[in-house]
Amino acid sequence: MGSLKHFIHAFLGGFALIHLVDAQDQSGFISIACGSPANSNYSEPTTGINYISDVAFRDTGISQQISNVYKGGFQQQVWNLRSFPQGIRNCYNIGITQGTKYLIRGTFLYGNYDGQSKLPQFDIHLGVNMWDTVNITNVTIPVFKELIHVPSQTNLQVCLVNTGLGMPFISAIELRPLSNKTYVTNYGSLALFVRLDVGSISRISYRYPFDIYDRIWDPYNDNTYTILSTSQTIDTPSNNYYQPPSIVMSTASTPINVSAPLELFWYTENATYSEYYIYMHFAEVVNLTATQFRSFNITLNGKYWYGPIAPKYLSTITLFSPSILPNAQKYDFSFFKAEGSTLPPIINALEIYSVRDLSQSGTYQKDVDAITNIKSAYGVQKNWEGDPCLPQAYSWAGLNCSYDSVNPPRITSLNLSSSGLTGVISVYISNLTMLQILDLSNNNLTGSVPDFLSQLQYLRVLNLEKNQLTGTIPANLIERSKNGSLLLSVDENLNVCGSGSCKKKNNIAVPIGASVGVLLILALIVASVLWRLKRKQKDESRGLEIAKTEPNIQTMSFRSLESLQRQFTYADLIRITNNFERVLGKGGFGKVYHGYIDDTEVAVKVLSLSSVQGYQQFQAEVKLLMRVHHRNLTTLVGYCYEGPNMGLVYEYMANGDLDAHLSGKNTNILSWEARLNIATDAAQGLEYLHYGCKPPIIHRDVKTTNILLNENFHAKIADFGLSKMFPTDGITHVSTFSVGGTPGYLDPEFSISYRLTEKSDVYSFGVVLLEIITSRPVIERSDENIHISQWVRIMLDKGDIQNIVDPRMYGDFNVNSAWKAIEIAMACVSSTSTERPSMSEVVMKLKECLKSELAQRAGESNYLVEMVNMNMITELIPLAR
Ligand SMILES: *[C@@H]1O[C@H](CO)[C@@H](O)[C@H](O)[C@H]1NC(C)=O
Ligand SMILES: *[C@@H]1O[C@H](CO)[C@@H](O)[C@H](O)[C@H]1NC(C)=O
Ligand SMILES: *[C@@H]1O[C@H](CO)[C@@H](O)[C@H](O)[C@H]1NC(C)=O
Ligand SMILES: *[C@@H]1O[C@H](CO)[C@@H](O)[C@H](O)[C@H]1NC(C)=O
Ligand SMILES: *[C@@H]1O[C@H](CO)[C@@H](O)[C@H](O)[C@H]1NC(C)=O
Ligand SMILES: *[C@@H]1O[C@H](CO)[C@@H](O)[C@H](O)[C@H]1NC(C)=O
Ligand SMILES: *[C@@H]1O[C@H](CO)[C@@H](O)[C@H](O)[C@H]1NC(C)=O
Ligand SMILES: *[C@@H]1O[C@H](CO)[C@@H](O)[C@H](O)[C@H]1NC(C)=O
Ligand SMILES: *[C@@H]1O[C@H](CO)[C@@H](O)[C@H](O)[C@H]1NC(C)=O
Ligand SMILES: *[C@@H]1O[C@H](CO)[C@@H](O)[C@H](O)[C@H]1NC(C)=O
Repeated sequence: MGSLKHFIHAFLGGFALIHLVDAQDQSGFISIACGSPANSNYSEPTTGINYISDVAFRDTGISQQISNVYKGGFQQQVWNLRSFPQGIRNCYNIGITQGTKYLIRGTFLYGNYDGQSKLPQFDIHLGVNMWDTVNITNVTIPVFKELIHVPSQTNLQVCLVNTGLGMPFISAIELRPLSNKTYVTNYGSLALFVRLDVGSISRISYRYPFDIYDRIWDPYNDNTYTILSTSQTIDTPSNNYYQPPSIVMSTASTPINVSAPLELFWYTENATYSEYYIYMHFAEVVNLTATQFRSFNITLNGKYWYGPIAPKYLSTITLFSPSILPNAQKYDFSFFKAEGSTLPPIINALEIYSVRDLSQSGTYQKDVDAITNIKSAYGVQKNWEGDPCLPQAYSWAGLNCSYDSVNPPRITSLNLSSSGLTGVISVYISNLTMLQILDLSNNNLTGSVPDFLSQLQYLRVLNLEKNQLTGTIPANLIERSKNGSLLLSVDENLNVCGSGSCKKKNNIAVPIGASVGVLLILALIVASVLWRLKRKQKDESRGLEIAKTEPNIQTMSFRSLESLQRQFTYADLIRITNNFERVLGKGGFGKVYHGYIDDTEVAVKVLSLSSVQGYQQFQAEVKLLMRVHHRNLTTLVGYCYEGPNMGLVYEYMANGDLDAHLSGKNTNILSWEARLNIATDAAQGLEYLHYGCKPPIIHRDVKTTNILLNENFHAKIADFGLSKMFPTDGITHVSTFSVGGTPGYLDPEFSISYRLTEKSDVYSFGVVLLEIITSRPVIERSDENIHISQWVRIMLDKGDIQNIVDPRMYGDFNVNSAWKAIEIAMACVSSTSTERPSMSEVVMKLKECLKSELAQRAGESNYLVEMVNMNMITELIPLAR
């Protein structure tokens, strides 16, 4: 064995030629020979796999053939290919069985199809997620990209993206359903790194029909190893769902020097980011005599990993890591002869995968359906391929979308002006329910201005100029354009008229003599006036209860606070932040910048001018932070209040927000102890708000992005823009009808009662604690949209406790303390508020957790290894035979 780094795939042409006596079941296989003629449907002679043309799966691209001189060596599905000279992104759209685990393979053989001998490099995406970069390095060496992935939709989009380094092309796309009991990950999908038939005699690659899942096994030999083999069939017990092919399992490698270890190592593809899963397949191929015995232990980077293991004669055992292998630059597996073993170690087959996060979901599905229908209704001639809004860099020309971190993107603007449209205004447009701007000007649209456009409640610009429209404009649109909420223009049509009598003249427009810019500013002013009015009315009309609940906020004047803290001018803010040079992040109502006051680092939050709601939150935050001080709440250094220019200056929190440290991509993994400390800090901050303040304060927006970490990873609660104080005289809630908070963190009782109590903060904190424990997203982006508390509940019901905790800690924690933490979190997220503990109880229990963790740590040093081993034993297949 040795370095796998320079391993090269064998030729496709090297596949075994076999007699297809009884081709196995190909049900569920999708085999697309790209660029092959429409209606082609053939069986590849060497494999018996049925390939079909790609014509039905895409709209774009050109069919090409590899140079004739290369055809002989390859299976037929790569003789043709499809290249994409036009557009940046072009996509295949393939109907699949939703929820099935698939092996997805793209094959790329250049074969000098364009006669230019220029090797391209381009990207391949799966839906909206980056899959890989395809780097063609040799005219005759095919590149394979393979994923194991569970698509969440009924369609799978494979997109080729031109990155300016050559024209993208693809030779074949193959999908194979797998058992969902195989290749299970804690998160993410798997990208193939290598799949090896170790000790191959034939030196050819095997795939279907040898392998029922059509995995491709590449031959691997090393001259310091001996090949062992058998002509017998190797069985795989039916409860080993991996089912490696018998022909692959019938050969193995063993060291020539019988006392030397068998070694297997590779270097990571990416030094800062490595997440691998390994699958080893063993079977004894020698009929051992009574005195012979083969058994070995396996180490990883010098540490005991698994063993002893004694492969069974002619029967497959699969050994795999149930969680991601520990992060390292080099992975070195050594197999040592165990005590009593008379024979050196062996290995028959091996698979290594790296983790890919393909969980980002696309644009809101109903918007996708609507825009797809619009595209086909008008036969839109634009490069409208793949997801309409994502990735943002490749969003469709003429569309604008809304982007935020929680919800899928929505289409907010559609510009199809001068696009040669004919026919009537498509009814599908009314299904783009978030549309704000619609521009269909300068086309040949006929018919009337349809009533369904009135249903678009957010529409503020409707441009239908220069078409052939006739008839009456719906009254609702006229009304909205009159009151200034809609900019409507219908100039230069055949005969369009307003609500009054239809004149014969052509150019009748509903007059709004204002440009869009002016209108927007007007709208803003109107909105802010409205808001002020509304707020006043609300305060008066909400009556006794509310009047009582917010006396302090209402009466506390801004001016009286000014003397307490340092006041800055706007010019100061510019100087402190060096003209807003470095953005740290985005807060509830504006951007946060880095700055210095003398030599002290600070963070400066500036109120965004466009945010009416922001002003309200700004005031709430200042008022609160002026009053309350606690080591687990962010400290306000000062503020700026200069007409429209408002800003808050805080102490700088060097380690940013908690969310960034928990999210899958951060390589610096928080230890269990650090996590418990952070949870305790945050809980103490909330406890202080609830019990240390008079009147008590409800934060109302507790989430991981609002928990900040300083240079020592001490946590502080931030962002009080939605906070409310509530009195203690018998009323224990704040009624509110404004939509505050963040989806996923919001107290489920709120939707029934419209009341937020301190127990609502407890709920949100429970969600935060679950994130701290699991490092999983609050709402898993899939069709089911599973909430983190549901997920943990499912795992608990399955009794699968060890997989709840963030796998990246590799079991480096005290089990009792983890148990306790899960218990606390689950109590906090009880759906009824009365079942949730108070923040004081939570603080107490978290401190106990921390204590038992620290005690354990002091007592034991070698904990990590043992936890991992416990996992291994349970995952060894078969358990018993
Ligand atoms: C291709 O041919 C096979 C065998 O004739 C048939 O079963 C299959 O439905 C065909 N596939 C397509 C997509 O036409
Ligand atoms: C692509 O392959 C060429 C030739 O092996 C190599 O020089 C180049 O660095 C590769 N590019 C990437 C992005 O891996
Ligand atoms: C491409 O691969 C073939 C087969 O391995 C080899 O003979 C040839 O030298 C390679 N060409 C280049 C440019 O590396
Ligand atoms: C595996 O697939 C079966 C059948 O499709 C389904 O019933 C089962 O829930 C799946 N199991 C998991 C763990 O996804
Ligand atoms: C065989 O392996 C053992 C253990 O690694 C080593 O000490 C010995 O020198 C090796 N013998 C030869 C001939 O390489
Ligand atoms: C390594 O992976 C990280 C995370 O995906 C990525 O940001 C970084 O660019 C990668 N580095 C290289 C050299 O590929
Ligand atoms: C293995 O060896 C035993 C005796 O040495 C023999 O009885 C048995 O048939 C052999 N099994 C196979 C599969 O050759
Ligand atoms: C290796 O295997 C032997 C059995 O021969 C066992 O006693 C030992 O604990 C195993 N582990 C290590 C680290 O050697
Ligand atoms: C629009 O959406 C509604 C419900 O979401 C659906 O029933 C209707 O069929 C859609 N209409 C069109 C024209 O797509
Ligand atoms: C409308 O159609 C006519 C005739 O087909 C064509 O000449 C004209 O350019 C079209 N106008 C627009 C704006 O597309």
